[in-house]
Amino acid sequence: MASDNASPFLAIRGLRKTYGDAVAIEHLSLDIRRGEFMTFLGPSGSGKSTTLYIVAGFQDPTEGSVALDGRNLLAVPPNQRNIGMVFQRYTLFPHLTVAENVAFPLRVRKRPEAEIKARVQQMLALVHLADLGGRMPAQLSGGQQQRVAIARALAYDPPLLLMDEPLSALDKKLREELQDELRRIHRETGVTVLYVTHDQEEALRLSDRIAVFSKGRIEQCDSGAALYEAPASRFVASFLGNSNFLPVTVEAVAGGAAELALPNGLRAGSVPLHMPMARGASATLMLRPDRIRVLPAPARTDGPGIEVRVRDVSYLGDSLHYAVVTPWEQEISIRRPLGDNPEAAAAIGDHVRIEWDPARARVYAAA
Ligand SMILES: Nc1ncnc2c1ncn2[C@@H]1O[C@H](COP(=O)(O)OP(=O)(O)OP(=O)(O)O)[C@@H](O)[C@H]1O
Ligand SMILES: [Mg+2]
Repeated sequence: MASDNASPFLAIRGLRKTYGDAVAIEHLSLDIRRGEFMTFLGPSGSGKSTTLYIVAGFQDPTEGSVALDGRNLLAVPPNQRNIGMVFQRYTLFPHLTVAENVAFPLRVRKRPEAEIKARVQQMLALVHLADLGGRMPAQLSGGQQQRVAIARALAYDPPLLLMDEPLSALDKKLREELQDELRRIHRETGVTVLYVTHDQEEALRLSDRIAVFSKGRIEQCDSGAALYEAPASRFVASFLGNSNFLPVTVEAVAGGAAELALPNGLRAGSVPLHMPMARGASATLMLRPDRIRVLPAPARTDGPGIEVRVRDVSYLGDSLHYAVVTPWEQEISIRRPLGDNPEAAAAIGDHVRIEWDPARARVYAAA
C-alpha cells in the first residue's frame, strides 16, 4: 500500500527494548513523513542507536511495531529491507576500489553491468568524488571515505537512509562541510533520512524535525525552532540551546497563564502555562540568554525584571556575553547581539536591570 502525504511513511509504535532488567527504549512512538530529515538527538545511552538498529533489522524489539509505507517491517528479513545505512566508523571494503565499493550493493542485487557503471558514476558525482573511483579506501581522507559510504548507501535508491553519527569521527571543519553536503544530497535525492547525533548544532543545521531522546524515551519531537522557542521540559531546554532556570512560586493561575514570583517577592510576570500548575506551587522559570535585555539601573519600567550586579562581560564578536548575579546570588547568563546599534555596554561591577518578555518565557514544575 503506497502512503499518501497524510499517512506516515515510517510508523514506529509502542517500541520497547530490554536487555535483561535494563530498559534501552520504552513506549517509543514516532511518525516520519516521506522525504523528511528526522534526527535523533540525545545523551549517550538514551536509546538512539537501539531505535535505529530495530528499524534496520539488526535488533528485534521486545514489544512494538514498525511499518514502512504501510508494510510491517519487522516481518521482513534485514537483508531484504532495502534500507541504506551509514555508520560512524568508515565501513568501506578495504580491498575494493571506491567505484567497486559503490557498485557492491548493485552487484549483490545482480543489476546489469551497464546500469551498475552508470549508477556508480552518478553516485560518485552526487558526493563530488567523480574522479576518485579508481582509488583504494586507504588513499582517501576520512571525509572522502564517508562520502563514499553515503554514495554506497544510496546506490540502490533505498526508500530510507539510516545514519548513526556518520560525521562524529571528523574534525569540526570537515564535519560542517559534510553537513552542507548532506543537506544538498537530501534535497537532490528526496530520500527519507533517520539521522543520529548528539551534536545539537548538527541536529539544528540538518533536520526538518528533531526527536530529543532521554532515558529511552522521546521527550519532544518538533522542528528546531519549536524546540528552541517552546521546549516541553527542563531537559529539552537544557539539552538544546542554553538556558537559565530561576526558582519561582506560582502566585495565581488565570487564563492559561501563571503569575510568578521570584525569590524576595520580585515579579517574574505572567507566563503562559503548557502544563497544569496549582497556586502556591514551586516551579522553574526558563529564560533563554538571548531573550534577556540589559538596561542601565535604576530603569523605571512596569515590566518584570530584576536589579542585578554584572560579574563578567565577554566580547564574542557578534554578541556580548554577560554573567550577572541576582539578589539571591544566582548567576544568570545573557547574550546580546551587537548588530548595527550596539547597546551601551555595562561594565563589570555595574548594577543593571534585566528584563524579559514573560509571554516568551517557559515555566516547568519544579523537579
Ligand atoms: N547489547 C546490549 N546489551 C545490554 N545493554 C545494551 C546493549 N545495547 C545497548 N544497551 C543499553 O541500551 C541503552 C541504549 O543504548 P543505545 O546504544 O541505543 O544508546 P545511544 O543513545 O545510541 O548512545 P550513544 O550516544 O552513546 O551512542 C544503553 O543504556 C545501553 O547500555
Ligand atoms: Mg549510539
